[in-house]
Amino acid sequence: MRISVIGCGYLGAVHAAAMAHLGHEVVGIDVDAERIAALAAGRPPFFEPEFGDMLASSLASGRLRFSTDMADAEGYEVHFVAVGTPQSADGQAADMRFVDAAFGSLAGHLRPGDVVVGKSTVPVGTASRLAELLRERAPEATLAWNPEFLREGFAVKDTIAPDRLVYGVPDGDAGERAVGRLDEVYASAVGSGTPRIVTDYATAELVKVSANAFLATKISFINAMAEIAEATGADVTKLADAIGHDARIGRRFLNAGVGFGGGCLPKDIRAFSARAHELGLGDSVKFLDEVDKINLRRRARVVQLVEEEAGGLEGTKVAVLGLAFKPHSDDIRDSPALTVAQQLAASGAVVTATDPAAIPNASRRAPELTYAETPEAAVADADVVVLITEWPDYVGIDPAALGELVRRRVVIDGRNVLDPARWRAAGWTYRGLGRR
Ligand code: UGA
Repeated sequence: MRISVIGCGYLGAVHAAAMAHLGHEVVGIDVDAERIAALAAGRPPFFEPEFGDMLASSLASGRLRFSTDMADAEGYEVHFVAVGTPQSADGQAADMRFVDAAFGSLAGHLRPGDVVVGKSTVPVGTASRLAELLRERAPEATLAWNPEFLREGFAVKDTIAPDRLVYGVPDGDAGERAVGRLDEVYASAVGSGTPRIVTDYATAELVKVSANAFLATKISFINAMAEIAEATGADVTKLADAIGHDARIGRRFLNAGVGFGGGCLPKDIRAFSARAHELGLGDSVKFLDEVDKINLRRRARVVQLVEEEAGGLEGTKVAVLGLAFKPHSDDIRDSPALTVAQQLAASGAVVTATDPAAIPNASRRAPELTYAETPEAAVADADVVVLITEWPDYVGIDPAALGELVRRRVVIDGRNVLDPARWRAAGWTYRGLGRR
């Protein structure tokens, strides 16, 4: 199959390389010339395990190329649109400029029988609107909506072997043809029995946003329990283990801590809420405002714990371990770690932060912070150590050895991943979130 991928950000770049890896002939197109040059040279523009190797082998196979020219999409049969839908600068809604621009420019290069496949996370109703645009400008092309569920850190695996496929297609022959084309694209996943749900546009769009809303709600639920646990002397990690044994609830995504961040969950719940309000359905998603508030309160709680333990923030030396929004990523978008580090610094603390992958991105966004390459360097003479991103190297750190480097042995475990008994035995004051 000849596939074009419009938008070579996180999603698009991985999708393009993965499709070539699966044997398709692929062109990746993006307006960002620097990014395209890096990808064409086999240099991943972001940190993602396994992506560099897959990019290199796909380029070497001759089946993958990159371009900044939308005209290069011409002659390809299936066109994935994977551009970003960030939160708009002036509100909670998704900024649809990149999607609209991509469709507007692609429409002039489509041929009869082509299938355009939306992958971006969009407000419900977008696909119908874009199908209308294609009807006017490229009447013999068909639109399908095929949301993506990849997780950063597992992007390659999630793209090659997704846990489900969702196709939103129009009724009738055009829809059937689109399903056939998508089945060819995903032949290996379909062949290995991956569940595949064929539905209408609106459902496909909603599957994506409701999945992320559910995950965010699950995390904020356990973080709300952490607030209650803090006030009552209970332990939220034991609570999560206990309720997680109920198969209907499940233990995954019940890790209480500093909460969710990243380029997806926070902006997706806000965009969902904004769209529901536009539709006059604000009440149906009112709980998402609470989910967001609980999540942001956890960041403030970490700052408060540092203040409590240090007896004030002015001049307190704080080491922040982790900057990425989660381990195995260099992504700092809406990162709880970066927010906490910035809030501490804004309140007068002297912050030194470290991360195995995210320092370049963080230092561009927050030049006011001091950065250290290693945890050992970051904690030198610290009054308080705060662990926020649970990189395995930080989780496995030896509290006794670290204790030799700090001024005071106080650790705040923002992800509840350290063993309190071990740290206390090494002379540390240990504070977790939602734990005694
Ligand atoms: C999320 C979804 O998990 C993917 O399914 C989805 O495709 C993606 O968004 C997207 O829309 O593109 P991702 O943002 O990569 O993926 O990260 P997650 O693994 O979901 O983690 C999100 C945040 O929640 C992280 O900050 C993580 O630390 C936090 N988290 C996760 C918790 O605080 N507690 C948990 O128990 C789990």
